[in-house]
Amino acid sequence: MVSYKELGLVNTNDLFKKAIEGKYAIPAFNFNNMEQMQAIIAACVETKSPVILQVSSGARKYANQTLLRYMAQGAVEYAKELGQNIPVVLHLDHGDTFELCKSCIDSGFSSVMIDGSHHSYEDNITLTKQVVEYAHAHGVSVEGELGVLAGVEDDVVAEHHTYTRPEEVVDFVSRTGVDSLAISIGTSHGANKFTPAQCIRDENGVLIPPPLRFDILEEIEKQIPGFPIVLHGASSVPQEYVETINKYGGALKDSIGIPEEQLRKAAASAVCKINIDSDGRLAMTAAIREVLATKPGEFDPRKYIGPARDELKKLYAHKTVNVLGSAGKA
Ligand code: G3H
Ligand code: 13P
Ligand code: ZN
Repeated sequence: MVSYKELGLVNTNDLFKKAIEGKYAIPAFNFNNMEQMQAIIAACVETKSPVILQVSSGARKYANQTLLRYMAQGAVEYAKELGQNIPVVLHLDHGDTFELCKSCIDSGFSSVMIDGSHHSYEDNITLTKQVVEYAHAHGVSVEGELGVLAGVEDDVVAEHHTYTRPEEVVDFVSRTGVDSLAISIGTSHGANKFTPAQCIRDENGVLIPPPLRFDILEEIEKQIPGFPIVLHGASSVPQEYVETINKYGGALKDSIGIPEEQLRKAAASAVCKINIDSDGRLAMTAAIREVLATKPGEFDPRKYIGPARDELKKLYAHKTVNVLGSAGKA
């Protein structure tokens, strides 16, 4: 049993309080390997942003849970070595059982998500409350979820959104004791958030997806004023990455994300955690494909994963400075 406090990590409570007051959002970037972690930390140190290092159960299976824990511990030291003692949270993304959340808490995570959104409302409350009781006894913060996002969440695939029902949030938050609430207002996981048929074209021919349901967000904020809200599925799917991937042999189709202006607007509200995974995957894949296609003699992995790491760092710095507004808040 190891406490996150011994590892130099922090929970989300203080970060979210400041983010709501300061009208910005903390980035929650998923990582599965060393280069992603290096890019996240280097970008957040350079832009002086607090950061949530986010680990899915898929990431735990891929990378080994013990290694990931030590990498997060290393991340705190790496940030100091780069010259900034930025707040670092180690967060479980989409935990689906009490046992998984407990195992993460026991191994040094400072924050967990228990995603009971696919259960009935009452079962979601029971499961979330059980996790909150254990987590709070260890000073760990908990994110719950109400409403279902379309797309893939680890092994769970939902075809359609179920928007969060504002009339449920007071009851859910008070009965579970969660520290933050993930909501569904039109975002979804992955790189294909909308079909072209759902979009309109602007004067330059760029596809504009339907706006997020800010009316639902406002209603939720009225119900639970000042309570930290989390936005999942918030990748913007930069078209330059999609084009590079397709130019060098990829076959991505209908890859459309959430426009950055909408995320900026959300970050200025009670949304104080914004989850981004797919954009990092696209940045890495675009950079690797470009090197492999243009330098076919290259076989040293550092020669293609290195440029991918550089591109990732640029992407993450852009997010903290221009989208979430967390730059300078560490
Ligand atoms: O919400 C899902 C995250 O993007 C994590 O994805 O389960 O493939 O690691 P993953
Ligand atoms: P994206 O797929 O839009 O990056 O969302 C990631 C996420 O919500 C992780 O929980
Ligand atoms: Zn998610």
